[in-house]
Amino acid sequence: MMRRLIPDATDDVDLEAGYAVPAELPWHVRTSFISSADGAVSLDGRAGGLGSAGDRRVFALLRDLSDVILVGAGTARAEGYGAPRPVGPRLERRRRHGLPDAPVLALVSQRLSFEPDSALFPDDLPRTLVITSGTSPPERRSDLARHAEVLVCGEDTVDLVAAAAALRDRGLRRVHCEGGPRLFAGALGAGLVDELCLTVAPLLTGPGSGRIVTGLELPVPAGLDLAHVLEEDGYLFLRYQVLPAPPVS
Ligand SMILES: NC(=O)c1ccc[n+]([C@@H]2O[C@H](COP(=O)([O-])OP(=O)(O)OC[C@H]3O[C@@H](n4cnc5c(N)ncnc54)[C@H](OP(=O)(O)O)[C@@H]3O)[C@@H](O)[C@H]2O)c1
Repeated sequence: MMRRLIPDATDDVDLEAGYAVPAELPWHVRTSFISSADGAVSLDGRAGGLGSAGDRRVFALLRDLSDVILVGAGTARAEGYGAPRPVGPRLERRRRHGLPDAPVLALVSQRLSFEPDSALFPDDLPRTLVITSGTSPPERRSDLARHAEVLVCGEDTVDLVAAAAALRDRGLRRVHCEGGPRLFAGALGAGLVDELCLTVAPLLTGPGSGRIVTGLELPVPAGLDLAHVLEEDGYLFLRYQVLPAPPVS
């Protein structure tokens, strides 16, 4: 049973209410991660080894409340992603929230090393989006364009601000960014992240794994405002609002 510790202690929390995004927001980017208590973002190269039943419930909910799942190629490869096609209660939940039956999967990649016939690119709708830059391999781009919608945003690397505008233009307003750490660093640096949902697993995994942000320096430390703390089986579920960055002096 999920209980709330902060802001006020409550047993058996209504998760949908706890993670609701205000309907009036025209645009919202939520990122979610799980980390061990000593800061590891993966166990044996994957996030799943850190998880719990509660974490899987929250992750499923965050997906179900989104229009688009934005993910870096490294995570899609490491975690064996496929384009989500919710069924049963999860499909009903999306319909109840007035969302299309399936969220769009949007992959961010420079190298484009994906198998075009993989589960990332099903034949049915919605089509997967591949967000890449002008210097990505042209042959791979045209191969993928037969299976996905390819968006070129930026020249040398993906310009994430342009990518966000392209999602908005398609009416994809509620973004669930599932990382990984490199994409999260880029999105934070570009000032694109509104919210971080972080699960802290009651595990110490030792050295070897990266952290939830990696690859790029952040211009300034990002401040967080704690919205809630839930708990189940010793796992902590932290919902933070990301504060606007102060001007760089
Ligand atoms: N604990 C968690 O909740 C969690 C969540 C997500 C991931 N993870 C873990 O994180 C690890 C993967 O880390 P990662 O840093 O490689 O993940 P990532 O951020 O998903 O992937 C990095 C890749 O994404 C593409 N990319 C990201 N930003 C880009 C940009 N601005 N322009 C062009 N391409 C861009 C590049 O793909 P190309 O190489 O294709 O060019 C880059 O190599 C895995 O072990 C995974 O299990 C953990």
